[in-house]
Amino acid sequence: MSQQFQHDVLVIGSGAAGLSLALTLPGHLRVAVLSKGDLANGSTFWAQGGVAAVLDDTDTVQSHVEDTLNAGGGLCHEDAVRFTVEHSREAIQWLIDQGVPFTRDEHAGDEESGFEFHLTREGGHSHRRIIHAADATGAAIFTTLLAQAQLRPNIELLEQRVAVDLITERRLGQDGDRCLGAYVLDRNTGEVDTFGARFTVLATGGAAKVYLYTSNPDGACGDGIAMAWRAGCRVANLEFNQFHPTCLYHPQAKSFLITEALRGEGGLLTLPNGERFMPRFDPREELAPRDIVARAIDHEMKRLGVDCVYLDISHKPAEFVKSHFPTVYERCLTFGIDITRQPIPVVPAAHYTCGGVMVDEQGLTDVPGLYAIGETSFTGLHGANRMASNSLLECFVYGRSAANDIVARLDQVEMPQALPCWDASQVTDSDEDVIIAHNWDELRRFMWDYVGIVRTNKRLQRAEHRVRLLLDEIDEFYSNYKVSRDLIELRNLAQVAELMIRSAMQRKESRGLHYTLDYPGMLSEAHDTILQPPTYAD
Ligand code: FUM
Repeated sequence: MSQQFQHDVLVIGSGAAGLSLALTLPGHLRVAVLSKGDLANGSTFWAQGGVAAVLDDTDTVQSHVEDTLNAGGGLCHEDAVRFTVEHSREAIQWLIDQGVPFTRDEHAGDEESGFEFHLTREGGHSHRRIIHAADATGAAIFTTLLAQAQLRPNIELLEQRVAVDLITERRLGQDGDRCLGAYVLDRNTGEVDTFGARFTVLATGGAAKVYLYTSNPDGACGDGIAMAWRAGCRVANLEFNQFHPTCLYHPQAKSFLITEALRGEGGLLTLPNGERFMPRFDPREELAPRDIVARAIDHEMKRLGVDCVYLDISHKPAEFVKSHFPTVYERCLTFGIDITRQPIPVVPAAHYTCGGVMVDEQGLTDVPGLYAIGETSFTGLHGANRMASNSLLECFVYGRSAANDIVARLDQVEMPQALPCWDASQVTDSDEDVIIAHNWDELRRFMWDYVGIVRTNKRLQRAEHRVRLLLDEIDEFYSNYKVSRDLIELRNLAQVAELMIRSAMQRKESRGLHYTLDYPGMLSEAHDTILQPPTYAD
């Protein structure tokens, strides 16, 4: 039997953005936080590097803003960048107050040190400004915030809940556009439940799983972006998919990132013969922004016909390496690579979705009552290329600002009246799940081959043709069979892939993460690629 629930705030996604929003809301509000699988399965848990913020006395807001604008290839919205950076110190203080165990600076108290925590460097940053917990920052943040949420009686943490679609007044044939909650598959019962909410928040992360090779965990399927699009929200700049330059290359290593902080602390990129190549590509060498480093690696791999390049930190003292990068050290050792003595084989892999659901400074989307925060959203912060460790910062700044906006609107919004149940009367159990598995593989393969680090018009046309066939097939499957997690994710991923391809086709230039051989130059004026859903344009 499917169930009906009512909450003041429904948060879809249990990572850094969703938890910080839930924890900022006052204790008298009933809040549900949904996770598709186990709570720790999202991308936050796997983040290694840290959070970029202006914390040291020698650093300035202006410098962080300028670095972000430079990395963003002329497409960052300066107001969003400034808003985020200006709130960075208070966001970090909030995390410290929650109890996040950031790594302390062993020189704290020395005259030259302006801050008690250790700050590392990453690509594009002109200062040491990345606060971190060794090389497992995401795990430290997630574990702390989750423990805080578990202490709060008003927050219900619900696992194995996969949102299928948002419920809007428009969808129900009523006047208005407001979001009223969501239909959610409970994987424990197999039923689709109805969650009514005064406010709904999409905090579902990005869509890097659309690519065959990715640093992201399995759930990064663009669910929030696809649901928001179907509900009538505009999306922007989805052609900008960030490829992290250095993921471990090993047949048994699934999606393991080698943090950029390793280059920040002196790690060097080399060819199989030990020769460095980054100085040939950019004066910032290994610490150039990610788009430049990933393209340089891709170029060298194709030029030499090799499967990987190498990242070498073995020239640093072994104790330094082990204490700064314990996670990378241990993980590589399980594959027989001792990073204190040997270079690490690395390749680029899809890592971050820079575009997303368009929102304002409060995380509010085009649909009243619906917020999007974190990687799901497009705030204008990242432009054409996200700077390392700005993304976790965005989660906290916008998560907290969306929570404050919800509080400010509480008086204006009633709990939605009884909502119709999910109608499963026309569907049966699928006897052809092979179609889902096949389409997953096909989608991720052609996105990697045709919509990857280097694009062309022809490749994009091929991808467009294939994604349309897939969307038709998936639609038919969705209309006839009961929903499952795999089907819901495939439907969302294919939708977001189609939006990415469409966005890439609209951009007739190369800028930041979007590089095409047909238009290698950059236009003099920078424009966002904004897509309007049919319902919004009506
Ligand atoms: O390299 C890293 O540790 C990743 C950081 C980021 O994506 O911001």
